[in-house]
Amino acid sequence: MAKVERLDKVLSNMGYGSRKDVKKLIKNGLVKVNGDIVRENEFKVNPYEDGIIIGGNEVNYREHIYLMMNKPQGLVSSTDDPLTETVIDLLGDEYLIYKPFPVGRLDKDTEGLLMISNDGKLAHELLSPKKGVDKKYYVEVDGTVTNEHIIMVEKGIVLDDDYKTLPAKLEILESNVFSKVFLTIQEGKYHQVKRMFESLSMKVIYLKRVSMGPLLLDSTLSPGEYRELSDEEIKSLRNCQ
Ligand code: URA
Repeated sequence: MAKVERLDKVLSNMGYGSRKDVKKLIKNGLVKVNGDIVRENEFKVNPYEDGIIIGGNEVNYREHIYLMMNKPQGLVSSTDDPLTETVIDLLGDEYLIYKPFPVGRLDKDTEGLLMISNDGKLAHELLSPKKGVDKKYYVEVDGTVTNEHIIMVEKGIVLDDDYKTLPAKLEILESNVFSKVFLTIQEGKYHQVKRMFESLSMKVIYLKRVSMGPLLLDSTLSPGEYRELSDEEIKSLRNCQ
């Protein structure tokens, strides 16, 4: 159920400016609610149900946004960075007003599924180690992956800092001097996939996340492209915790 909120707060949350800015818009008669000009800042509106128009444009209110990006290589997974372009820099203004952030991190040279949202609660739940949400990676390594490695990964790999990883799943797609595999882990330690293979004396040469819980990377998204999640996808993420 949508909450009833003050008009100035709703407009400010929507990115129409600071409280002071939106008070000016309201005072100047630029805001209509259900067809009538409203000049009181504290006027109560239900932003999901009332028709709010600012300067002739209808306001489509929503609290949260949920995006799936196919992260390209070369960008960092943070909201701002003094030196490097971030994944947030790729988003259009219509999304930036919601102050979105990446849900978890992929390394600068990693590609693939990155969820971007402003729903802190869902993000926290998806990333919580206690929830054990599966993260599946397509990995190309410099080395020959064998069935023995599958068993070792299942048992847990000791990393360079002596941390032993939780049981994970390795699937071999191609095994040669270079190998192609899927690795599914439920944790998100720093550089975890790369460090797991380092412990197995192999180097990751290409890394791409293909799924996170029930969310699969949309194969129609080229690196750098993104789209909103469907209602079903959002529901499946909520239900997977
Ligand atoms: N593991 C890594 O090593 N890098 C990533 O970007 C994600 C998981």
